[in-house]
Amino acid sequence: MSIIGLIVDVLREELHRAIDAAPTFFAACRAAVDLLYRRVAHYNWVGIYLREDDELVLSTWAGPQATQHARIPVGQGICGLAARTGETVIVDDVNADPRYLACFPQTHAEIVVPIHRGSEVIGEIDIDSDQETAFSAADRALLERTAALLGCRARTSTV
Ligand code: SME
Repeated sequence: MSIIGLIVDVLREELHRAIDAAPTFFAACRAAVDLLYRRVAHYNWVGIYLREDDELVLSTWAGPQATQHARIPVGQGICGLAARTGETVIVDDVNADPRYLACFPQTHAEIVVPIHRGSEVIGEIDIDSDQETAFSAADRALLERTAALLGCRARTSTV
């Protein structure tokens, strides 16, 4: 196994433990956001949006500055697209994507990973990177696993 593979395995374990140990679903989201932001250098802004009717509402985030997009209608922007389709969306160059809702001038790439509870999208993990083409299959796998753990927590805990 490569050193990168080992590091990803350690982080995946840390995320699993933190999400399981959190006393509430919100605390689990908070712990996941903090770990992802602190541990991965190319994750420059990390947030979790939760779905309320036809809107995504920013629940918790970590990064150098707040976003103006605290509420996003489902269907709008990259976040709204992921919520509508239920599929992970990776944008390698946000400046070349007309669907992108701009937040930070330094952002180059974005990944949005839906959180499912059963067949329903209840929220999503949204990460911005200052690097172009920042997100690989390894990022997608790590974040989809994190989203699955959060989806399980949402089933069993109070907010
Ligand atoms: N860029 C997102 C909006 C949220 S910010 O990145 C924090 C989008 O296009 O939906």
